[in-house]
Amino acid sequence: MKLLNDKTVFITGGLSGIGKACAILAAKEGANLVIADLDSDTKENILEEIKTHNENAQFVACDVSNFEQVQSTIQHIVKTFGRLDIALNNAGIGGEAHFTGEMPESAWAKVIGVNLTGVFNCMRHELAQMSIQKQGIIVNMSSILGKVGFSSSCHYVAAKHGVLGLTQTAALEYAENNIRINAICPGFIATPLLVKGGISHHSEIEKNILHLHPMKRFGSAEEIANGFLFLCTDQSSFMTGSALEIDGGYLAQ
Ligand SMILES: NC(=O)c1ccc[n+]([C@@H]2O[C@H](COP(=O)([O-])OP(=O)(O)OC[C@H]3O[C@@H](n4cnc5c(N)ncnc54)[C@H](O)[C@@H]3O)[C@@H](O)[C@H]2O)c1
Repeated sequence: MKLLNDKTVFITGGLSGIGKACAILAAKEGANLVIADLDSDTKENILEEIKTHNENAQFVACDVSNFEQVQSTIQHIVKTFGRLDIALNNAGIGGEAHFTGEMPESAWAKVIGVNLTGVFNCMRHELAQMSIQKQGIIVNMSSILGKVGFSSSCHYVAAKHGVLGLTQTAALEYAENNIRINAICPGFIATPLLVKGGISHHSEIEKNILHLHPMKRFGSAEEIANGFLFLCTDQSSFMTGSALEIDGGYLAQ
């Protein structure tokens, strides 16, 4: 039996890395999918790949930092599928690396805009719809850096801590309304985000980051997708407001 049969699942940042792996797993489990991401030349190929698992998959160009674009995306989902069962607020960026005392205001605003305000924008509209349905599941993508600091990344660290605060607050607000809201805190995962962040293969910086993980390896996007699937099925029915750490032991130290 497929675990997400006929569920309507919304995934932001679904064209790459963790979001893409979650989209493929959800499609394999029978979900109707709407993927929101920035417009990209890769969208058709990726959508085709996802559709090999379930035909009912759509792409919507949407910048999560834009309140109105997120609102119209959620309206589109409800118009198309009649409801929104599960949302994965995953879209995120790394941002420029600077010490806090040298962080350009524009770099701060960009990361906060996508990684924190973007999650708020999504939750704001998802929860409005899920409240009408009196049912729903939200998973927010935080990070190990939602729990501890990391040099030269004050914007990212602040945003990911903020995502955990949003998750806990909304979980309290909706706990009696049949809406569960949890977060995932991945360790460093081998995705294009790491490459964009300058963590290239076999570099010194890669070696240093690997050593921060007791398992001495990066995680895979599929390992995060397994956690996502757990949080959006009844296997996790008594969980809300939690932060699921999938990090090779990073936070255990
Ligand atoms: N890779 C890691 O090591 C790691 C670790 C912890 C947390 N995370 C988090 O996981 C999430 C996914 O990261 P990833 O590693 O898969 O990165 P990725 O770069 O492979 O994918 C991110 C996706 O988000 C999209 N995106 C970026 N800005 C957007 C916007 N404004 N609106 C809509 N979509 C946007 C990108 O186009 C891309 O498709 C992020 O929130 C990231 O912070 C990643």
